[in-house]
Amino acid sequence: MTSNLTTMQGVKGLRDIDVTGKKVLIRVDFNVPVDGHNNITDDRRIRAALPTINYCIDHNACSITLVSHFGQPKSGYDAKYSLKHIIKRLERLLQKKVEFVEDFDSSKEEIAACSLERVFLLENIRFHEGETKNDPELSKRLASICDIYVNDAFGASHRKHASTYGVAEFVQTKVAGFLMMREIEAFSKALENPVRPIALVVGGAKISSKITLLESVIKKVDKLIIGGAMSNTFLKALGYDMQGSLYEEEYIETAAKVMKQARENGVKLYLPVDVVTTDSIESPVVVKVVPAQDVLEGFKAVDIGPATAKLFSEAIELSNTIIWNGPMGIFEIDKFSKGTSKIASALADSYAYTIVGGGDTADAVDRAGEADNISFISTGGGASLELLEGKVLPGFELLDRK
Ligand code: 3PG
Repeated sequence: MTSNLTTMQGVKGLRDIDVTGKKVLIRVDFNVPVDGHNNITDDRRIRAALPTINYCIDHNACSITLVSHFGQPKSGYDAKYSLKHIIKRLERLLQKKVEFVEDFDSSKEEIAACSLERVFLLENIRFHEGETKNDPELSKRLASICDIYVNDAFGASHRKHASTYGVAEFVQTKVAGFLMMREIEAFSKALENPVRPIALVVGGAKISSKITLLESVIKKVDKLIIGGAMSNTFLKALGYDMQGSLYEEEYIETAAKVMKQARENGVKLYLPVDVVTTDSIESPVVVKVVPAQDVLEGFKAVDIGPATAKLFSEAIELSNTIIWNGPMGIFEIDKFSKGTSKIASALADSYAYTIVGGGDTADAVDRAGEADNISFISTGGGASLELLEGKVLPGFELLDRK
């Protein structure tokens, strides 16, 4: 498990170059969780990017342009996914004016003007079709607005997109930001010579992107604990009728494969034995705890039940390295947050080295009041799983090496 981390540790950082008088493009991950009114519920990812931004300001970069994605817009502009929503919080945290750029192609001259160390934030880069396709044209256009590319978007560094990967091909100086390096350091501590048993706790609603990773990650861990929406697909694979619960039909087979691989590799797999169910998420009239195989017609699973929380907590207590990625239910709604909050406390109470990954999970740990009792809170969800897989993340691949 050491080789990918060592490779990533070998990239150049900001302190290895001189940013003075240069136009710096920083890829950040401002994909922060928001509520239904676009209020940011956890600004950790913005705060985590500040050291890199401030370093460039303090070292007199000519201009600083921040580029990020936000959500997963399907095609083109969608007001719901505009990064405009985060600008106030960013300005407050940075204590500096940030100029919003809707169309970076036509703002080129302004960015190049080099006056007063201006900070720009580009509109959601995923509004460009070429972003997720890693289109060289978009990469070139991004490269043309900077002298130096800094990747500090750890949370998106598992994506081979134009702004996380392709752009680096067209910029002469490309380095990692402080957040990227801090994350790699923390994961190295956990994964190079790990203290076993290693437990991976997985949940959340991003089933399709995480479940396939589990196939390769399974060989690296001793225990795999699955809850939240992710576990519904597994329970379905066991033949349970999950009724209206969120699961992914097309990944039932993958779930079955993961279970088979767990058996073959001697990995202990934990699934919910009971679940909290409701007739409606928005306006619940009935909320019931039922065995996982007995979800009633018209109901959906929205949290792990108390017996599951106990089972998972015991498995956590007996582990020495724990990585948690994805909540155990719809924790944003108080009624359905108990399972997630019990898992947060189990991690906090354990003597293990604990890493919590992903915006939602970090938010959940905060709400449970346990953030200070976790060894490391990562800004990466999917990215941390891919690290565990043993991969060099694309976001590091093209950066300059020491
Ligand atoms: C995340 O939230 O895990 C990162 O920002 C990556 O987002 P994505 O899964 O939409 O690429």
